[in-house]
Amino acid sequence: MQIGLIGTGLMGLPMAQRLLDAGLSLTVYNRTSAKLEGLKEKGAAIAPTATALIHDCDCIILMLTHATAIREILLSDTNRAYLIGKTVIQMSTIAPSESRSICEKVVAAGGDYLEAPVLGSIPEATAGKLIVMVGGTTEQFETYQPILSHFGATVRLVGEVGTASALKLALNQMIGSLTSAFATSLSFIQQEGVEVEQFMEILRGSALYAPTFDKKLQRMLDQNYANPNFPTKHLAKDMKLFQAEAEPLGLDVHIPAAVNQILLEAINRGLAEEDYCALFAVMNQTSK
Ligand SMILES: NC(=O)c1ccc[n+]([C@@H]2O[C@H](COP(=O)([O-])OP(=O)(O)OC[C@H]3O[C@@H](n4cnc5c(N)ncnc54)[C@H](OP(=O)(O)O)[C@@H]3O)[C@@H](O)[C@H]2O)c1
Repeated sequence: MQIGLIGTGLMGLPMAQRLLDAGLSLTVYNRTSAKLEGLKEKGAAIAPTATALIHDCDCIILMLTHATAIREILLSDTNRAYLIGKTVIQMSTIAPSESRSICEKVVAAGGDYLEAPVLGSIPEATAGKLIVMVGGTTEQFETYQPILSHFGATVRLVGEVGTASALKLALNQMIGSLTSAFATSLSFIQQEGVEVEQFMEILRGSALYAPTFDKKLQRMLDQNYANPNFPTKHLAKDMKLFQAEAEPLGLDVHIPAAVNQILLEAINRGLAEEDYCALFAVMNQTSK
């Protein structure tokens, strides 16, 4: 089976490397071709266009920014014609309604579609420790689990297409909310003259603690948001998607809406490409 991977950004690059390290035959395409150099050296076939990749591969893995990019690449008139008999594994973070709609179009074009969004970031992608959540049929899961297991030992069938995207979005809503809550309290105790280590010691020993707090603490204290694992602009995308999906379900969306506002403020301050913990800069008006 010839596997193709489209989108070798922060996540797609280490994921492609995992497949190559496992000895799989892989074709890659990225809009910005400079990002493909390292993969060529590792033995990947480089497709000059997405069309060429879709033509040459049986199984097409997508790791793109958003649904707009996926539609542009997959569903152009030319590329749609090459989807007959092909399987698309959609791994980007998109809304469940977007995933279901893209699935319908791929199936209408004669292809097969499953979603497999992931929890974890660049370190987990590099180490093969992502948590892979699959939305599809049991048969699809059994067929593609061996490929997906190169990305992480935990590959889990959630339910039909849309359910894994919903689960992923629910988790990312928590990334935004927890980090905002932590950044607000951290900023507060700093302004009130409480030692950060006292705050952290009590927090760590309490039921309120989440490991992500310690992962982001030093970056926040140093106001160092460079070399992001997950950029601010992507978390803002996910908070907006969550809001758009949750509101029609009758859920109260004050929390994701507020977090989105904070992230948009960070983006306005030029922090779009920085690590999302840059939202601390908004909480703490005295920092950059
Ligand atoms: N970073 C994380 O920690 C993380 C974790 C889990 C899930 N995710 C999700 O995984 C997806 C990818 O994230 P990432 O961090 O790898 O993002 P990224 O570094 O920004 O990569 C995005 C990729 O999409 C491509 N792309 C965007 N718009 C395009 C378009 N219109 N046409 C063609 N290609 C396009 C980019 O190509 P260029 O290189 O040409 O720009 C790049 O390959 C996102 O949905 C994100 O939310 C990210």
